Amino acid sequence: MLQGKTVILGVTGGIAAYKAAAVASKLTQAGADVRVVMTASATKFVAPLTFQAITRHRVVVDTFDEEDAAVISHIDLADRADAVVVAPATANALAKLALGLGDDMLSTTLLAHRGRTPVLIAPAMNVHMYANPIVQQHMETLRGRGVHFVEPGEGFLACGYTGKGRMAEPEQIADKLSALLAAPRDLDGVRVLVTAGATVERIDPVRYLTNDSSGKMGFAVAEAARARGARVTLVAGRADAQPPAGVELVRVESAQDMYDAVLARFPETDIVVKAAAVADYRPAARADRKLKKSADEMTLTLERTPDILKELGARKRPDQVLIGFAAETHDVAQYAVLKAASKRADFIVANDVSQPGVGFGHDTNAVSVFTADGLVEELPLQSKRSVADRLLTIGREAFAARAAAANAGTSTGASAGASGASSASEARETST
Ligand code: CTP
Repeated sequence: MLQGKTVILGVTGGIAAYKAAAVASKLTQAGADVRVVMTASATKFVAPLTFQAITRHRVVVDTFDEEDAAVISHIDLADRADAVVVAPATANALAKLALGLGDDMLSTTLLAHRGRTPVLIAPAMNVHMYANPIVQQHMETLRGRGVHFVEPGEGFLACGYTGKGRMAEPEQIADKLSALLAAPRDLDGVRVLVTAGATVERIDPVRYLTNDSSGKMGFAVAEAARARGARVTLVAGRADAQPPAGVELVRVESAQDMYDAVLARFPETDIVVKAAAVADYRPAARADRKLKKSADEMTLTLERTPDILKELGARKRPDQVLIGFAAETHDVAQYAVLKAASKRADFIVANDVSQPGVGFGHDTNAVSVFTADGLVEELPLQSKRSVADRLLTIGREAFAARAAAANAGTSTGASAGASGASSASEARETST
């Protein structure tokens, strides 16, 4: 997987920097074109010449050390990289990355990296530094942006302590990077629109109706689609989770806002995944000023919101794939089949939210996928990311099958083509 890949190896200033030479060596031996960027502190531990000898490339340290007048080094490097590895990453490096500081060559390069290719970080530091909540919080922030980690190992640390903080072994780092690069790119060029989170329906300037959706399921779909090469638009309502990087993020509040945002983008979309929990009702009137209490009771009159999924079903072209969700507490199959038929959705992903570990707020989900004809597949309890990946495969297969059918209908004797990205782009050409 590493053959011919350009990998930026960021080396920051910790004692584990000496092990980064072995990382550079492993990646180079596996066929990668390794470009090392060191922080000034890292050069106190290992000489740049070590990495230069291993990678056969000049090591970059100084942001202003521009060798080639035609390019700006940190932008050029970030644009060309198939992957970025930071090993070791100190607590300071993690903080800078999480906060978006750019005060040296490595941090500016990482800022210029657009999140389309994997970033893998191998932290290494003292056990107490690693356990510090601020370090963990920075790692969480980065995870939320789609950054991957190879956790440090436990053992004897250079500082004399024993515990978690030792940089992962170079083999582990190289293996993890290979696995990340091996992720399928079967949605290359496919346009995926995902809705996520909860809508907010205002009662007055300080009060609203909403629901418990965390946004995690939709965000997992958006992240998985992006990792597989799709061009992703994420229309997100209120959500506690951090949206993934590398997607077009459209923030909305109400069901009406979501309706407008989704419908406007629908013609340029191949696959829609509607994971958002959309309010079915909203206050019939929104007060411009805060409502004051008076009587012992008050009645709030609600009116229906537009049904986005139903409208998409009505406008859907034959080549577009529409995947809706349904949160149910009973008669799951019956309702899901009815929803697929009445909203003209290709698939309804139903979850029984009365089950433990399923639905709102959890990192896991268990779903059943239905068409209007009945059950297609059951996905037992697993991470939302793996549910997302399977749903995208189901969507991609349906999309590719339609492209193949459209090609068979329009071409004279030409093969319909294989499933996947090539037929995906062909579908757009024939259908628009
Ligand atoms: N949905 C939508 N617009 C709405 C309400 C729901 O697009 N105004 C979408 C959701 O995003 C989801 C699907 O419809 O993909 C099913 O949502 P759900 O609330 O479970 O179904 P409803 O059709 O609203 O039916 P009910 O509330 O009666 O179960």
